[in-house]
Amino acid sequence: MRTAFTDLTFCVRTFGCQMNKHDSERICGMLEGLGALPTEDIETADIVVFMTCCVREAADTRLYGQVASLKNVPVRPGSPLEKRIVAVGGCIGQRDGEKLTHALPHLDVVFGTYNLGSLPQLLEGALSDGKHHVEVLDAAADFPTDLPTAREHAWAAWLPITIGCDNFCSYCIVPYVRGREKSRPLEDIVAEAERYVAAGVREITLLGQNVNSYGRDLYGSPRFAAVLDALDATGIERLRFATSHPKDLTDEVIAKFGSLRSLMPALHLPVQSGSDAVLAAMNRRYTRAHYRDLVDKLRDACPDIALSTDVIVGFPGEGEADFEDTCRLVEEVGYHQVFTFIYSKREGTPAATLVDDTPHEVVQRRFDRLVEVVQDQAFRANQRDVDTTVDVLVEGASKRDEAIMAGKSPKNQTVHARLPEGVSASDLAGRIVQVRVDEARTWYLSGEVVGGETAPAFVADGPGEDRP
Ligand code: SAH
Ligand code: SF4
Ligand code: F3S
Repeated sequence: MRTAFTDLTFCVRTFGCQMNKHDSERICGMLEGLGALPTEDIETADIVVFMTCCVREAADTRLYGQVASLKNVPVRPGSPLEKRIVAVGGCIGQRDGEKLTHALPHLDVVFGTYNLGSLPQLLEGALSDGKHHVEVLDAAADFPTDLPTAREHAWAAWLPITIGCDNFCSYCIVPYVRGREKSRPLEDIVAEAERYVAAGVREITLLGQNVNSYGRDLYGSPRFAAVLDALDATGIERLRFATSHPKDLTDEVIAKFGSLRSLMPALHLPVQSGSDAVLAAMNRRYTRAHYRDLVDKLRDACPDIALSTDVIVGFPGEGEADFEDTCRLVEEVGYHQVFTFIYSKREGTPAATLVDDTPHEVVQRRFDRLVEVVQDQAFRANQRDVDTTVDVLVEGASKRDEAIMAGKSPKNQTVHARLPEGVSASDLAGRIVQVRVDEARTWYLSGEVVGGETAPAFVADGPGEDRP
């Protein structure tokens, strides 16, 4: 069946968090379903969709440059269009709406975070009349998940269980652009997971800004532990989730790390700061001691669990002693990975009104120092795996060398290994092989393949397609 999209090429450029990445997979699923052809190359795309992020200023400003630079790029030879169609969605689309078309007049379509499903109609409108088509809603009517998905890897899937956030950390824009927290009914989550398992998916990552509070809006109390049990029962091999807010991580969920077969021994638990004064000013609603207590309980439940976190440096009012508290906390916990960010003022958030008088050089110096502490800890944490054998879910060839495969360990470490004789990395993609680790660096382990699924090719049900 011909549609307005038949014979058109499209490219989706994604910024920001996994939620945006997953939304992009939905967009690809919808447009491919309508007959459009995906391309990686923005210049040969008839339709370009930017999925944007505004969590920090750097992510925000980049968009304008990218959209502006497309203005003078001609359409590909043979395109049925005279002019490329450019759409902006995601969190900047939600925040700025119509205003974007004033700043960027050659923009055709703007949509927000609540109306992904409207994108085909908006694009169709722009294709037929060449005018601006803007639709930004104030809130989502329902949990928007009955959209097709084109997954990046056939063997891994993201599965959103909540959207939005109710936490209002004082620095954060997310609650304003993703709205109040909404949970997805448990039956829907399980049904989607079962479809993935049947299609050969081996790893599912549950998504939400704060998965621990899953169910509060639907069932009156959090039910995240029940989600984990139900997912485990689907037979999925590897289960992960992101993100967890420390104030809502319950003992019941912690206990799952020791007891659920599929739950991988890795947890991203953003701490943001190691100083109680800064945590209070951030409205995080836990203390350093509470966080340390959670870490102890996690290690009791699962001694080898790999922890990762997010830290903001230079929050307004952060003093040298506060910063030292953060460095000490990072050392005490011994994280496998820490995502470090310099505080970025976001208009409209409570922290934007705070006095922020720490000179930039001081913040930069603290940031550099923290990065050193983080690297040192990550290096040490990885040493524990030297001379052990780890199960690695293979992703493909390493970026630098076709003869080396790269994949992920249960603890979510990147693992490199020389490919067995006569086997290519693409043969192994999606399979779980055993790697004997002989060296551990700061950001990866390396070793040799000693067993596992090194023989028959992994066959998924279609090229990463799923049509619920
Ligand atoms: N919901 C998740 C992640 C939200 S955004 C959570 O609560 O952890 C991802 C990370 O971006 C945050 O954890 C925080 O470290 C960082 N971040 C958010 N707003 C920021 C800001 N205004 N400046 C700098 N970093 C910020
Ligand atoms: Fe932002 Fe806090 Fe919500 Fe995370 S929990 S999205 S940091 S407001
Ligand atoms: Fe960015 Fe929006 Fe995610 S602001 S971090 S893409 S929720």
